[in-house]
Amino acid sequence: MSNVTLSTLRRMKQAGEKFTSLTAYDAAFAHVLDEAGVEVLLVGDSLGMVVQGKDTTLPVTMDEMVYHTQMVARGSRRALVMTDMPFLSYATPPQALANAARLMKEGGAHCVKLEVHGGMVDTVKHLADYGVPVCAHLGLLPQTVHKLGGYKVQGRDSDSANEMIACAQAMAHAGADLLLLECVPSRLAAEITAAVDVPVIGIGAGPDTDGQVLVLYDMLGITPGKRPKFSMDFLPPAGSIAGAVGAYVQAVKEKRFPGPEHCVD
Ligand code: KIV
Repeated sequence: MSNVTLSTLRRMKQAGEKFTSLTAYDAAFAHVLDEAGVEVLLVGDSLGMVVQGKDTTLPVTMDEMVYHTQMVARGSRRALVMTDMPFLSYATPPQALANAARLMKEGGAHCVKLEVHGGMVDTVKHLADYGVPVCAHLGLLPQTVHKLGGYKVQGRDSDSANEMIACAQAMAHAGADLLLLECVPSRLAAEITAAVDVPVIGIGAGPDTDGQVLVLYDMLGITPGKRPKFSMDFLPPAGSIAGAVGAYVQAVKEKRFPGPEHCVD
């Protein structure tokens, strides 16, 4: 199997073929995911919560993201490695560029992900102008949890839905290579996916995005507390970690996951 690149994901979108992504935080899991055919390994800042046991993703540092990206890059052979830029590491375009450079040059990331709003077009354009592959994360933005007042579904009313559609189009126009939608109604996610040429990854965004992502520890049933409605524990029926990851890949490809019970509508 050849290496997964942004062109691979664009081709898959055009062909209507679903692709998969899971979070990975170390070399051992990266190897398992890579072997199972997961196209995108996301070094998510969710590591602050699921690995470090913190309450939010906000305390995660650049040094930690570089460290975890190095491990994931070492453990994978063919997948695209995408890394989250942590909270306040991209507050200005020059700061974003300097930190994205660290994640790519020191960490080995192929792409960086930023939580965006409409005012960040210049930042995305600046990164794109310098050849940094960017994923723009819209919808529920965990780094703004204190402003949002909790982890809530976004884009439910027509004003916020229209704002999200406009933001998605602006990000693609500014040079974002991928979009990620978190916790948005399925109909809105389908509309955004159809409105942009770039591949769209969803989590809690229904079945119609081009790709799906889950937090690895949620889909293995080892995240403490209640599992989010949009996730699923693939481990018990599969009986092994590799089997669970393989079952997830197959379920996404065959459009069996996410089902209606995983939608946040
Ligand atoms: O950090 C993360 O794991 C993420 C996913 C929720 C998409 O951004």
